[in-house]
Amino acid sequence: MAEIGTDIRKATELLTNGSLVAIPTETVYGLAANALDENAVAKIFEAKNRPSFDPLIVHLPSEKSLSSLAQNIPDAFYKLYEALSPGPITYILQKTDAIPDLVTAGNPTVGIRFPKHSLTQKLLEICNLPLAAPSANPFGYISPTSAQHVQNQLGKKITYILDGGSCTVGLESTIIDLSKGAPTILRLGGMDILEIENALNKKITRIKTSSSNPKAPGMLSSHYAPRIPLFYGDIKKHLDLWKGKSIGIITFCKRVSTASEAQQFILSPTRNLNEAASQLFAVMRQLDTSNADVILAEEFPDEGLGKAINDRLKRAAFKP
Ligand code: TXA
Ligand code: MG
Repeated sequence: MAEIGTDIRKATELLTNGSLVAIPTETVYGLAANALDENAVAKIFEAKNRPSFDPLIVHLPSEKSLSSLAQNIPDAFYKLYEALSPGPITYILQKTDAIPDLVTAGNPTVGIRFPKHSLTQKLLEICNLPLAAPSANPFGYISPTSAQHVQNQLGKKITYILDGGSCTVGLESTIIDLSKGAPTILRLGGMDILEIENALNKKITRIKTSSSNPKAPGMLSSHYAPRIPLFYGDIKKHLDLWKGKSIGIITFCKRVSTASEAQQFILSPTRNLNEAASQLFAVMRQLDTSNADVILAEEFPDEGLGKAINDRLKRAAFKP
């Protein structure tokens, strides 16, 4: 099993030597390697069982280290960076030759993120390497929001997990493509689109999150999925269908009164969508490893982080 600790020097040594280290961020835990070392990056794909056509996000401490990695950077980037970074937003920019093709899956663009987690910010400063890091879960499964989640699934494949506690945002970053023309949202996530619109001082009209483009599996319709079937939407209908089975229920702020026997998880009794988002993946995992036969999840309000919660639940939902 991997060692879990808070030793930044040890993490730096491992990363410098081409090994993998799991790192905490405000969104989800990442599985990091030196982005400039193709052999190290290859280990990420192997450990996650991730297809090599799925590009990785590169993590930096600040935009000071950006100039050698990205080029033709538009003004919109600087506006968003000033207002929203560090934070749960990833910028797709035109890449330079310094970034290996394996990182970007051959794309001429690279995803760049400035995570807002003090331990990882310190690590990025001290190791002085851009870190390529996807979410630290086996490909297709729910993203980890604690060190223990990483240990449970990838503990045999890595040696060190940097423990930064539970992720405060709990959903992956919002991805915005700034590499061509008008900004386009590629993935809904932890940064509310309204904040992005405020920072740019204009509405974003192009949202392409349900792409069937095989180059972007995070945008594939089936992803983030538990092992047991999850049904999203009409809880009452499914309660009848699954009568007699062990049922897990995920709701926003209220219990389902007609399901007294079910294991019920209310993500935010005080109706706070940010709190609900931070709990979602941990609850999905807990139910997935419980004795439940099925998970029923309701639709969340279509505003703020509720949009990203609904997006993840839709992708996690059972597809016959
Ligand atoms: O919050 C996050 O973004 C977390 C933490 C660890 O930073 N990372 C994360 O990485 O969610 P991952 O690999 O699980 O999801 C990254 C998504 C993938 O869907 C990938 O296709 C997309 O970002 N992506 C990366 N580079 C891209 C590029 N150049 N063009 C288009 N999409 C890209
Ligand atoms: Mg992922």
